[in-house]
Amino acid sequence: MIRHFLTLMDLSSEELLGLIHRGIELKAMRAAGRLHEPLKNRVLAMVFEKSSTRTRVSFEAAMAEFGGQAMFLSPRDTQLGRGEPVEDTARVLSRMVHAIMVRTYEHEKIELLADYASVPVINGLTDLHHPCQLLADMQTYHEHRGPIRGKTVAWIGDGNNMCNSYIHASRQYGFTLRVASPQGYDPEPDVLAEGTRVELLRDPDKAAANADLVVTDVWASMGQEQEARARQEAFAGFEVNEAVMAHAKSDAIFMHCLPAHRGEEVSAGVIDSPQSVVWDEAGNRLHAQKALLEFLLAGAPAAR
Ligand code: CP
Ligand code: NVA
Repeated sequence: MIRHFLTLMDLSSEELLGLIHRGIELKAMRAAGRLHEPLKNRVLAMVFEKSSTRTRVSFEAAMAEFGGQAMFLSPRDTQLGRGEPVEDTARVLSRMVHAIMVRTYEHEKIELLADYASVPVINGLTDLHHPCQLLADMQTYHEHRGPIRGKTVAWIGDGNNMCNSYIHASRQYGFTLRVASPQGYDPEPDVLAEGTRVELLRDPDKAAANADLVVTDVWASMGQEQEARARQEAFAGFEVNEAVMAHAKSDAIFMHCLPAHRGEEVSAGVIDSPQSVVWDEAGNRLHAQKALLEFLLAGAPAAR
């Protein structure tokens, strides 16, 4: 049976915890210089309709190190960009590659692609979710502070794709999530309904109070560039700065999926402080996604 990874709800809690441990193991193997090539002769197609540094490089490096290959496909060069239906693209790619990673706008588009694909489809970010980033974030928390179960996480800022994936994560990994966003920028109601331990607040200090982990993201996501100015006004007072961090536990850590805007959603003093684990978080995209690729693909035959 093929498995897709469109949101964190596609895997069980046990499977997600397994990925954390496997990601840590794969990271240690790589550091020790041990060759591990479970995906020899496997190919990953990567469809990018939005920009990327981390997602592209981590998936491409993961496939190369696993003995396989990744193929970067942009709408500028493919027929998808000229209007070839997603359903047709899914069926064609499924006959040539072993998995498809997609970064796009509408979440419905990746759902449609997955419906028609006969190989695993991985969500590399949509307007609604960014589950791969959560795999890296959860591994990073575990490495720095141990299990996240029972802890408190503060999400400060936009109720965007990252926030929606944190809502799923709070349920799957068992932590309390406090979201502080300005009125009008709450997370998606349907996703919120899937959460089990989420509190919505308007005050960043209250959200951060005694938190173990403080997280934020850009105020204007990809596709919202024209709203950037209005959003800067709406989000005034939602910067994660030293004063906000002072409300969190003294050993709290800070995360941001990057790219970041110092002086907007986070102060330079926080993102560049010892409390910030953003570089480990970014680096763990490689290890966490290796664990995911192995989980989804290692059993798959090299040629079908
Ligand atoms: N965090 C993240 O997904 O970064 P990129 O947009 O660079 O892939
Ligand atoms: N919320 C951001 C995340 C970037 C990795 C965006 O969608 O642009």
